[in-house]
Amino acid sequence: MNNATIVERLSEIERLPTLPVVIRELQALIVNPRSNMSQIAKVISRDQAIASRVIRLVNSAFYGLRTPVASIQQAIVILGLNTVKNITLGVSVVNSFGSSVAASIFDREQFWIHGFATALASKYLARGLKYPEPEDFFLTGLLHDIGILVLDQFFHDEFVQVLQCTVRQKALFHHIEKECLATDHCEIGSLLAEKWGLPKFVIDAIRYHHTPGMGMAQCPESRDKIALAHVAEAEMRQRGIGSVVPGWINGPETHIREKTAIAVSDIDAISNKVGEEVQALMKEWGI
Ligand SMILES: [Fe+2]
Ligand SMILES: [Fe+2]
Repeated sequence: MNNATIVERLSEIERLPTLPVVIRELQALIVNPRSNMSQIAKVISRDQAIASRVIRLVNSAFYGLRTPVASIQQAIVILGLNTVKNITLGVSVVNSFGSSVAASIFDREQFWIHGFATALASKYLARGLKYPEPEDFFLTGLLHDIGILVLDQFFHDEFVQVLQCTVRQKALFHHIEKECLATDHCEIGSLLAEKWGLPKFVIDAIRYHHTPGMGMAQCPESRDKIALAHVAEAEMRQRGIGSVVPGWINGPETHIREKTAIAVSDIDAISNKVGEEVQALMKEWGI
């Protein structure tokens, strides 16, 4: 099987999960400098299912608000447009894939634990390193392995073969993907994110989370997102907070970790916090 085959088949799948209309309208409004906050709040509020979930999340313990918010507009005023936009995006993507599929041969719950653990760890690392917009790092962490769900759902037979081979050879999953499929969940996930019109830094972090050196050189504007997605996902996996697929587990690349100037003691503290928070957060997101 060659690369073109999977990528071509991907573009032909009509039932690929789609993002709700609200996200497309939201993205258009956000890039338009003339749009205002109340227009944005109105678009999110129109989709009641999404709006109510966003409000529930905003009011959860994770945002530590003293008084609960009752509307999207209020949430934007208190948390900022970027945070509300990212929560809305995250809720929509998680909803489009759902939580469990009977035919799945890997553990979806563990998959989302890994996604949320990476999301939280990236956000806390970004905060610790004083990077702007830590919520952007939450979003990239949450979605970094989305290509695996595409493989499981739409290329199931190939996915099973890759998993079996990974276990047999005690190898890295993404190396076996490359060998057997001539592509991997990074490329597949980034193609889906592109199709959905997600921000460039999300597409880049998905694309390069296992090859951060290459990604940081090719997409310097996304370098912090790529580096932290890589470090956070490898650290959480190594510490057994969620798992994605069986096979060899490796830590983050040393030079990437060094570049981001993160002390081991900081990562230890963050992992403890993430370990405690992750289950509660999944419940809040309805997984
Ligand atoms: Fe991955
Ligand atoms: Fe991962």
